[in-house]
Amino acid sequence: MKSSSPESRSESGPDIATLLVAWQRRHGRHHLPWQNTRDPYRVWLSEIMLQQTQVTTVLGYYQRFLERFPTVRELAAAELDQVLALWAGLGYYSRARNMHRCAQEVCERFGGEFPRSAALLQELPGIGRSTAAAVASFCFDERVAILDGNVKRVLARVLAFDGDLAQAAQEKKLWALATGLLPAEKDMASYTQGLMDLGAGTCAPKSPQCGACPLSDLCRARARGEPQRFPVKTRKLKRGRRENWWLWLEHDDHIWLQQRPSSGIWAGMWVFPTLDSEADLQRQAAGLQARTDELPVIQHALTHLDWTLHTRRGVLERRPDAMPEGLAEGGRWVAREQLADYALPAPLKKILG
Ligand code: ADE
Repeated sequence: MKSSSPESRSESGPDIATLLVAWQRRHGRHHLPWQNTRDPYRVWLSEIMLQQTQVTTVLGYYQRFLERFPTVRELAAAELDQVLALWAGLGYYSRARNMHRCAQEVCERFGGEFPRSAALLQELPGIGRSTAAAVASFCFDERVAILDGNVKRVLARVLAFDGDLAQAAQEKKLWALATGLLPAEKDMASYTQGLMDLGAGTCAPKSPQCGACPLSDLCRARARGEPQRFPVKTRKLKRGRRENWWLWLEHDDHIWLQQRPSSGIWAGMWVFPTLDSEADLQRQAAGLQARTDELPVIQHALTHLDWTLHTRRGVLERRPDAMPEGLAEGGRWVAREQLADYALPAPLKKILG
């Protein structure tokens, strides 16, 4: 007997795209604030924010960003510091820097209008292939495939694609398969959103809800009885470890902050002086005649790094005429009520309350 293929089921039933589009229209998400618009600025903004961040976290940031920068021109004209300050807490700050550069390029190269094809969108800073495709399919109905982490999982399962996605050649194959599944132009927005909706909910990494999935009848991974085996990805991220000591100095409701260098972790953001050892920290504190109190240890996980931060807080009786070497560079006293104007990484924001 000829077995049906999920890619083309015209003889034996509806194909993946047809099922998914119908399901998205009935059961998918329709009321997220970046839906029901075809304004590429809004869609692009949401896609960048959603790249490594959950919908529930993005909602508030998205609203505040749009209030402050209602158009791409306003974002392009802003100071990077303002953009970073609004971004603080979302993490992966290179996204915010690229977003700002992207807005400027849209204004300089394209007269303030986002280009209307995935190919051109992809030339802009911070817009990868999948993000370009998401914007182009949502806003311009372009027939282009998305393939972010969630969608890789959905498609690898439906197709029982067992190539190792750590290998570029296998990823390329999956892109080609994804492109082969696309529906007609008119259905592109629902199809793209449907893939995202399935990936964000039903087709969960550990316990997929196959009973609720519109594709379950033709899902090859399910037919094999072990959808969780897909996708296959061998390379494990090797995580580093780091330990630092934060010296929180305060005087008369002012806090001493230093700006981080323009590249690396938390580039351009403002933090407490960051020292390599307790001894270094105590030496600095003693030089300022500050007794320090110990705060709870912070464990901060970044993509490639587990970072342990020990914080010691010292209140100064008087403001020093000059800060000593090691604390002075790129530093300033910031009044508590001015803190909102500074880009502060999430853990610092949290302990400052
Ligand atoms: N994740 C990435 N893009 C998304 C979108 N448009 N809606 C919901 N979640 C998403």
